[in-house]
Amino acid sequence: MPIITTSADFVAWFRSVAPYINAFRGKTFVIAFGGEVVADGKFVELTHDFNLLAALGIRLVLVHGARPQIEQHLARNNLGDTYHQGVRMTDADSMQCVKEAVGRVRVEIEALLSMGLANSPMANADIRVAGGNFITAQPIGIINGVDLMHTGSVRKVDIAALNDRMEFGEVVLLSPLGYSPTGEVFNVTLEDIATATAIALDADKLVFLMDTDGVQDKKGKLLKELTIAGAQAVLSGKRKLPDDVSLYLPCAIRACEAGVARTHLISRHTDGAVLQELFSDEGIGTMVVESTLNTLRAATIEDVGGILHLLRPLEAEGILVRRNRELLEREIARFVVLEHDHRIVGCAALYPFPDEAAAELACLAVDAQCRDRGYGQVILDHMTGLAKTQGLKKLFVLTTRTALWFIERGFSEADVSALPSQKKSLYNWQRKSKVFVRKI
Ligand code: ARG
Repeated sequence: MPIITTSADFVAWFRSVAPYINAFRGKTFVIAFGGEVVADGKFVELTHDFNLLAALGIRLVLVHGARPQIEQHLARNNLGDTYHQGVRMTDADSMQCVKEAVGRVRVEIEALLSMGLANSPMANADIRVAGGNFITAQPIGIINGVDLMHTGSVRKVDIAALNDRMEFGEVVLLSPLGYSPTGEVFNVTLEDIATATAIALDADKLVFLMDTDGVQDKKGKLLKELTIAGAQAVLSGKRKLPDDVSLYLPCAIRACEAGVARTHLISRHTDGAVLQELFSDEGIGTMVVESTLNTLRAATIEDVGGILHLLRPLEAEGILVRRNRELLEREIARFVVLEHDHRIVGCAALYPFPDEAAAELACLAVDAQCRDRGYGQVILDHMTGLAKTQGLKKLFVLTTRTALWFIERGFSEADVSALPSQKKSLYNWQRKSKVFVRKI
């Protein structure tokens, strides 16, 4: 995340956020969080962030849970928690507790969403919260001979009603309850409500706030992006996953398969996690998407602007030789671009010299904001493959400043005389680039 110390940093940061502001306006996000967020007193900060999202014209559906509050209520009434295969069994007495607990949490959330203190992020906020009988539920029924009674699952989401509310600029707050046509109330999990609602609304995003930072790999490293297949692999692995991951990752897959473009799993403990995830390129948690956001492809004439944008800072620093637009347009067929989320974040060009069975790798550049993500390596590997398919045996680069990067990847320094003759004659003696070569 950028550190803002000067006004120039601030301006640069604000501008970097602009594409997201534009992209998110009018989009529908479903954001789900457990009752723990309210119980821990963390909801105030979260309210500020929801307020900001609403102010930016995002259509918001918030889904709250109430598990700790329900458990407290049950304990107070000497009613134990009865789980059957991980699902709570809700009898008539427990249902009373559920209603009371959910009602209380809801009131607390509505109160916080109503704040409008001057000198706080909520000044002039004026959020209108909508609630109602939007969710129709059905009983889960009998599992292995155990009747789960008032525990239900979502049967239908009243999307017309939800859309109406959001059309009026209201923020919808859904509680973990559903109603039946016979007038019954069912206890439904927040993840079921959130996922079913996101799917029914064809939402652009589904966000779960959870206990961990997202989904981690075996070594505890955060997995920033997971495809459906990747997420399935995590779930089918042998290791024991944190409870929240086991609960929410299947929902992310379900949503993604049903067309919700992105599901984000982020920490509820990090202040501003929602903002960091949504308004930065890298995010802060795990994002589940249908297929990866990175694509490496041959450049087209439409990419010239994006490539220039990428090369200019490196040219200004003297790392790359300056190329004008005309030259780039003429040579665009030699370029590949790496896109992340439809934005060009890397490029390189390959100039073959078939007589010498060699190729020059030129213009390898990665956006400064995307350093340390391994993109340079991805491009290098791709270009190596490309040169190989053309029957070439050697790859060389000319560089003044990035020698080490190439040495670490198996290149070794060579004399200018080792260059293909055509290239040798164009060698710029003033620039004094070093030549590095690698067999491929
Ligand atoms: N801010 C972007 C979005 O909201 C990208 C987030 C990327 N997050 C991640 N965990 N990889 O869509």
